[in-house]
Amino acid sequence: MGSGKFTALNGIDLTFGKGEFTGIIGPSGSGKTTLLNIIGTLDVPSEGSALILGQSVANLTPASSAALRKSKLGFIFQSYNLFQVHTVFENVEFPLLLQGIETAKRRQMVLDALEWVGLTDKIKSRPAQLSGGESQRVAIARAMVKRPAVVLADEPTANLDAANSHNILQTMEKLNRELQTTFLFATHDEKVISYVRRKIFLFDGKVARDEIIDKN
Ligand SMILES: Nc1ncnc2c1ncn2[C@@H]1O[C@H](COP(=O)(O)OP(=O)(O)OP(=O)(O)O)[C@@H](O)[C@H]1O
Ligand SMILES: [Mg+2]
Repeated sequence: MGSGKFTALNGIDLTFGKGEFTGIIGPSGSGKTTLLNIIGTLDVPSEGSALILGQSVANLTPASSAALRKSKLGFIFQSYNLFQVHTVFENVEFPLLLQGIETAKRRQMVLDALEWVGLTDKIKSRPAQLSGGESQRVAIARAMVKRPAVVLADEPTANLDAANSHNILQTMEKLNRELQTTFLFATHDEKVISYVRRKIFLFDGKVARDEIIDKN
C-alpha cells in the first residue's frame, strides 16, 4: 500500500481436504479474497507457506502455476472478469480451448455448463448485454465447465435472486458429491452459508472460528 505495509492475513493455519464444501465468512476487509487468491496461486504469501494439491506455491514458476490453474482450478471472481468482446458461449468455452479439448466435446461441455446456470438462451449475447446476475452466472459456468478439482468462488451469489442462488448451489453440491470437487466460497450470503459443511470465520485477517457442520 504505497510505501507502507498492510497485513491482510496473519497467523493463518488451515488445511482443506478433497471434496470440502466450505464457506470463508467474515466482514468486508477481513481477508477472504486474499485467502482465496493465495490458495489459487494468484497471490503469494510474504511469509509462511502455502501448498496447493501437494505443491508449494513458493516453488511454482509462473508457467507451472498457470498450468495448475488451467487444469485444476476454477475461479469465480468477485467482479466476474468476463471477456467483454466475446459471447457468453465463448467466455465459457475459453478454459476448454486452453486445455485443447476437441470441438464437439467442447461444445457439449459448454452447453451443459450453461444449462447448469440456466443461461442456454443467452449463448450469443455479449457481457454488456447481460444483467449483473446473468454475468455472474456466466462466470460460474466458466469456472465449472472443465470440472476442476477445486472451485474458488468469491461471493458467487452476490448478484443473484434467491431462486437462481438455490439452483446454482444445488448444481455445485451435485458436482461436489459426484466428482468430489472441492468448493471454497468467500461469502456473506446466508443462502450459501446454509449449504456449506464447514464455516471458517475470518476477522481482521485471522481465523476467529472454524466449524464443521454436521448435516446428518
Ligand atoms: N494489494 C493490496 N494492497 C494493500 N492492501 C490490500 C491489498 N489487497 C487487499 N488489501 C487490504 O487487505 C484487506 C483484506 O482485503 P480482502 O480483499 O481480502 O477482503 P475481503 O474479506 O475479501 O473483503 P470484501 O468482503 O469487501 O470482498 C483489506 O483491508 C484490503 O484493503
Ligand atoms: Mg473480497
